[in-house]
Amino acid sequence: MLVTRQPVLRRFWYATLPLTELDKGPQAFTLLGEKIVLWKQADGRPAAAQDRCCHRTAQLSKGFVENGNIVCGYHGWQYDCSGACVKIPQNPEGAIPPGAKITPFHCQEKYGYVWVALEAPLRDIPHFPEDGAPGYRRIFQFHQTWKTSPVRMMENSFDNSHFSFVHKANFGLQDQPQPAPYEFRETDYGFEAETLVPIRNPEASHRVTGTTEPITHRHLVNRYYLPFARRFGCTYPASGVDHIIYNCATPIDDENMVLVQWLYRNDSEEACSTQELIDWDAAITVEDRDILEACDPDACIDVRRRAEFHMASDKPGLMIRQQLMKLLTDHGEAEVFRS
Ligand code: FES
Repeated sequence: MLVTRQPVLRRFWYATLPLTELDKGPQAFTLLGEKIVLWKQADGRPAAAQDRCCHRTAQLSKGFVENGNIVCGYHGWQYDCSGACVKIPQNPEGAIPPGAKITPFHCQEKYGYVWVALEAPLRDIPHFPEDGAPGYRRIFQFHQTWKTSPVRMMENSFDNSHFSFVHKANFGLQDQPQPAPYEFRETDYGFEAETLVPIRNPEASHRVTGTTEPITHRHLVNRYYLPFARRFGCTYPASGVDHIIYNCATPIDDENMVLVQWLYRNDSEEACSTQELIDWDAAITVEDRDILEACDPDACIDVRRRAEFHMASDKPGLMIRQQLMKLLTDHGEAEVFRS
């Protein structure tokens, strides 16, 4: 599926940049092939619009912010969050030509991130119940560009059969390649999948897992949020420590995505520090990234095309592909792919 060729994908919220990035000034971002500028308004709320001035096409992300408006760095035309041109410094009477505007996009802050939808969103931003819940701390972990597709990233995150191979250097059990089975539950946002996965617990992970037991398990309650967000709901039963990750696989274009990752933990900084947790998950995501960037980014979601072979443990990935395919069909779209 070529994500930039499926218009319905423009109708979902995607995490783009941490809100704090906008303190540096306007920022450029590419979402589904659309070049956008993000900036912070006078009241602190983020705004998003087409990154192209309607005067001589200059990128507005090269400009600056004044009184909450985005100012073009070429000749100083100003635009508000609705995209309307509100000031042309060279026109002494303040005249604005009719139709002088840029395209605005839906934009809001949530979980410390700037979320953007290019067209009227079909759904709300996914709900992360641990955010702000007593006993949980939120840790921003990653904001990385990966040369793969969100479909590949999503299905990899539910794939219990890759642990023994891709993650054999840390938690994967190389001598137990049989994947743990899932129990699936349908939801109105996608699906929930529960499983108990046996893992290694090397000494380097004792503070992460909260236990020194040599072999333990992960109890996972994972969730898929159509189209490209997921929850990795991990509890280590031996310690009761929750290690709950949320990802947004934000599509940049047909070959690249941004992996945004938040972590929620129910232990203390003294028990396992923020940096230890970032380092632990960084090593794991490097392994995932390395193998996913070695796959074709044009992941086929129409399984009738038989573009790829499947096995029983691919079921969550096939469910993701089927739900995406239904989304396209319900909106009158066919899958667009490279021929
Ligand atoms: Fe933007 Fe001239 S190109 S003001």
